Amino acid sequence: MRLSMVNMTIPPNTPFAVYVHWPFCLSKCPYCDFNSHVRHSGVDETRFVRAFETEIATTAERTGTRTVSSIFFGGGTPSLMQPESVQTILDSVAKHWSIAGDAEITLEANPTSVEATRFRGYRSAGVNRVSLGVQALDDAALKELGRLHSAQEALDAVAVARAIFERYSFDLIYARPGQTLAGWKAELKRAIAQAAEHLSLYQLTIEPDTPFAGLHAAGKLAVPGDDLARDLYDLTQTVCAEAGLPAYEISNHARPGAECRHNLIYWRGHEYAGIGPGAHGRLNIGGRRIATETEKRPESWLMRVEASGSGLTVDEKLTPGETADEYLLMGLRLAEGIDPARYLALSGREIDPQRVADLHEEGAVEMTADGRLRVTQSGFPLLDAVVADLAA
Ligand SMILES: C[S@@+](CC[C@H](N)C(=O)[O-])C[C@H]1O[C@@H](n2cnc3c(N)ncnc32)[C@H](O)[C@@H]1O
Ligand code: SF4
Repeated sequence: MRLSMVNMTIPPNTPFAVYVHWPFCLSKCPYCDFNSHVRHSGVDETRFVRAFETEIATTAERTGTRTVSSIFFGGGTPSLMQPESVQTILDSVAKHWSIAGDAEITLEANPTSVEATRFRGYRSAGVNRVSLGVQALDDAALKELGRLHSAQEALDAVAVARAIFERYSFDLIYARPGQTLAGWKAELKRAIAQAAEHLSLYQLTIEPDTPFAGLHAAGKLAVPGDDLARDLYDLTQTVCAEAGLPAYEISNHARPGAECRHNLIYWRGHEYAGIGPGAHGRLNIGGRRIATETEKRPESWLMRVEASGSGLTVDEKLTPGETADEYLLMGLRLAEGIDPARYLALSGREIDPQRVADLHEEGAVEMTADGRLRVTQSGFPLLDAVVADLAA
């Protein structure tokens, strides 16, 4: 393949995002395999924030000038951070890159009353969107999920968010043990009544090496089978679409125009810097797509950054084929699908027309009027298999 066919130049105004990972939580939820850690003896927040500043400076030295269109504080539980820490990190992003006037700045928050008291401080620091992990509107379910808040406390936090931020979203987990179609429908409708423009609705995944995986393997955690899970998914699509919150991604629903711009940067294959323990990044440098990953263990990451300016453990150039397959993998999660011409420009080859034709015949994919390839409503539950079929 001729490299000259690969279009990796960065047009002006190309979106650039910064992801900042705060890896600490008050307790570990039994279903969660995110890079999150509990530190009963406390966290030296000042020292961590200084290391975040260092890693931002080191990353910016590599990328050069960029205009940041989105910043996302994810976790872990970033709402355990002091607003002053968030402010310092945002100042550092502004110092080393420039932040677009209309940048989306999101912070992931756990919906407890203590955390809600910090919302105003985050707003003053520049955060303009919060994403709350409500998870369920049912106290028994919240207890089973190991959450530290009640449904009412979560709804109170949503109300505080609504009063302070222009934009907010919240997450729910469905296909939980014992959940029925009627129960989920009622819960989802109650959630929609409290939602503004965006909801993330995740089907419970039993992640390997979590307490839920152990319980599941021992037959002590009965989650919905494939048929019920599929019905719960279909119900979710119908109820949300009727309420004006269609899915724009397999688990994300928004009023048109209110999609999470940060996550769209990932799914559309644009550029983002990953800062903090276990953060992933994708940078376009010197015409190549670079995949980065940092040390996951918080204290080891801290020592690496203090010693060398960065916590990188992975820093590799992706081949054109890998870049194109990532675009396919991420882009097909979106209702808008992917642009086959961009796939061709990235990889230097077309998506196999025979495989597209076969999947089309099975009703799993379709071409839109403007020539994009997307997964159909009935293909979405089989997304992993569709992507595996189309990837090189
Ligand atoms: C980084 S986590 C959560 C942020 C925040 N710490 C919280 O718990 O509220 C992002 C979201 O992933 C979802 N999630 C985590 N583990 C999951 C699992 N095993 N199955 C489905 N959804 C999951 C939850 O809805 C969660 O809010
Ligand atoms: S779900 Fe959120 S609060 Fe619970 S362990 Fe994971 S990151 Fe922490």
